[in-house]
Amino acid sequence: MARHRTPSLARLPLLALLLVGCATPPPGMERGAELFETCQPCHGANGEGTPDIQAPAIAGLPQWYIEAQLTSFQQGWRGKHADDLPGLRMRPMAVTLNREGDVPSVAQYVAALAAIFPASTLHGNAGAGAAQYEQVCVTCHGADGRGNELLRAPPILQLHDWYLVQELQNFRVGARGANPADTWGVTMRANTVVMSDQAMQDVIAYVQTLR
Ligand code: HEC
Ligand code: HEC
Repeated sequence: MARHRTPSLARLPLLALLLVGCATPPPGMERGAELFETCQPCHGANGEGTPDIQAPAIAGLPQWYIEAQLTSFQQGWRGKHADDLPGLRMRPMAVTLNREGDVPSVAQYVAALAAIFPASTLHGNAGAGAAQYEQVCVTCHGADGRGNELLRAPPILQLHDWYLVQELQNFRVGARGANPADTWGVTMRANTVVMSDQAMQDVIAYVQTLR
């Protein structure tokens, strides 16, 4: 009996592959929606993030910025440092976006989600942070915190405050922005190397007041 069954069973994986291949939509919003299902366990059904595992809100970030960060994770410019547990969680996900057009498709989908403005959780001194923001950060992230695409500086208004501080710390230790090929990350990192934890909390407390 087994002798007769073997040939048809052997064809099954090929058939399954063909079916999956046919069902995959071309690059664009439909493919983006399909891919986003793999992001939801961590970033939430609406891209609102899951603080418990340090996964930030990503809904409504600009498409160019999401693409840049997914590429950055793929390249290992982010998410490779041994102490960067959140980044280590994210990087394997970026690596799965390996079909042509996957990165722009999912980025387009996430960019189209309504931005969520999570409540503040930290207690920095916004007054002290204002001076630093206006002297340094404003050049790239703008007086309104909405970023500047030409300088590849993202909007930082809609992100969780704990995530923003976490990223400033990542830049400072070189878990982000340390690879010379990562031009924009290197640009940002330069601002953080002399900042204390308190200065980071203060400047982000100020960013929250810009909402
Ligand atoms: C296993 C959990 C997990 C999954 C699944 C996951 N992420 Fe993430 N993601 C994270 C964590 C944690 C971070 C924060 C990483 C850090 O601090 O460097 C993150 C960060 C990001 C960032 C950086 C945001 C910023 O403001 O710089 C983007 C963009 C992102 N994820 C997109 C995605 C997309 C798109 C998917 C689905 C294809 C996805 N993620 C799937 C956990 C996850
Ligand atoms: C010279 C331009 C420049 C200046 C000045 C600057 N940034 Fe940035 N910032 C960037 C760029 C570019 C990125 C994106 C880096 C990347 O692609 O990884 C960034 C990223 C960030 C991020 C990560 C956001 C995310 O979604 O992960 C935070 C937080 C941030 N900046 C805060 C600040 C603060 C606070 C200051 C002032 C102390 C500041 N930046 C000054 C250019 C700048």
